[in-house]
Amino acid sequence: MTKIGFLACETTVPSSGERRGDAFEHDLMIAALEPAFAEQGLQLHVIDWEAPIEAFDGIALAMLGTAWNYQDKSDQFIAKLDALSASGITVCNAPEVVRWNATKTYLRDLAQRGAHTIPTEWRSDVTTADALAAMERFGCDKMVVKRQVGAGALDQILLSRGDMPPSDWHYGHAAMLQPFLPAIAEEGELSFIFIDGALSHALRKRPAAGDYRIQSLYGGTESMHEPGTAEIEAASAIIAALPFPAPLYARIDMLRAVDGRLTIMEAELIEPYLYPEQGPDLGRRLALAVAKRLSQ
Ligand SMILES: Nc1ncnc2c1ncn2[C@@H]1O[C@H](COP(=O)(O)OP(=O)(O)O)[C@@H](O)[C@H]1O
Ligand SMILES: [Mg+2]
Repeated sequence: MTKIGFLACETTVPSSGERRGDAFEHDLMIAALEPAFAEQGLQLHVIDWEAPIEAFDGIALAMLGTAWNYQDKSDQFIAKLDALSASGITVCNAPEVVRWNATKTYLRDLAQRGAHTIPTEWRSDVTTADALAAMERFGCDKMVVKRQVGAGALDQILLSRGDMPPSDWHYGHAAMLQPFLPAIAEEGELSFIFIDGALSHALRKRPAAGDYRIQSLYGGTESMHEPGTAEIEAASAIIAALPFPAPLYARIDMLRAVDGRLTIMEAELIEPYLYPEQGPDLGRRLALAVAKRLSQ
């Protein structure tokens, strides 16, 4: 059996005393992958990414799995991926993909490469006056301010023209400003899971009533979604716009713009949850893709 590493973190590994609230997603991924990998002669090993390098002895390929604490120590994380790579392990997704995807300025690259993106202003910080000026330029009354490096809607705020913070307010982080797209509340966000550039499945994530964030932490829920041709084309166009060949796995999160077209919210290429519950064929697809990479 060929050994495949599935990188987890101290709060997603099953042996952890205090697992994160969403660690059940780790278990669902492993349950979907393990039997399908075994069928391809691949044995899945869950390893905390912070384990010493010797723990990776004999691993042929390492997937970034559920290394969900890496944001707090991203330099260490990337250094570890580089070290694994240098020791001859195929790291998926590759360290250069991780570097590119770690700050949301990659959305600017995608826009330059022709992707349909949400109009965005990039600033080192935001004051109330900056926010009002941006709303003027966007021609909107509601705006989302989020961190350029962030996840899980951390520190994200929704500003409304009629209810602005005091004039001495400032955001305090490198930020991106976007008009609020109302489709999030009705249609929700659509996620497309790609394995080696081929669509595996799609799903829809909707916020709880009264919220606009689809994260389960805020009561968001997911359901299966059968994508239409135009939707598949829109998501595939994002994969085609990446500045490198299609990575092993990608989750493209999209939202409907006011022109009716799907626009990109995020390209999740580091350690995205791949929603096996909505894609019963995910395990087989990933196992085949991993086996193919190892044979090349
Ligand atoms: N421009 C926007 N219009 C409407 N909703 C948004 C917008 N930007 C973000 N959101 C909401 O906030 C959530 C988190 O934003 P996102 O850019 O995906 O950052 P992250 O998931 O990395 O925290 C989205 O899933 C969506 O629910
Ligand atoms: Mg997101």
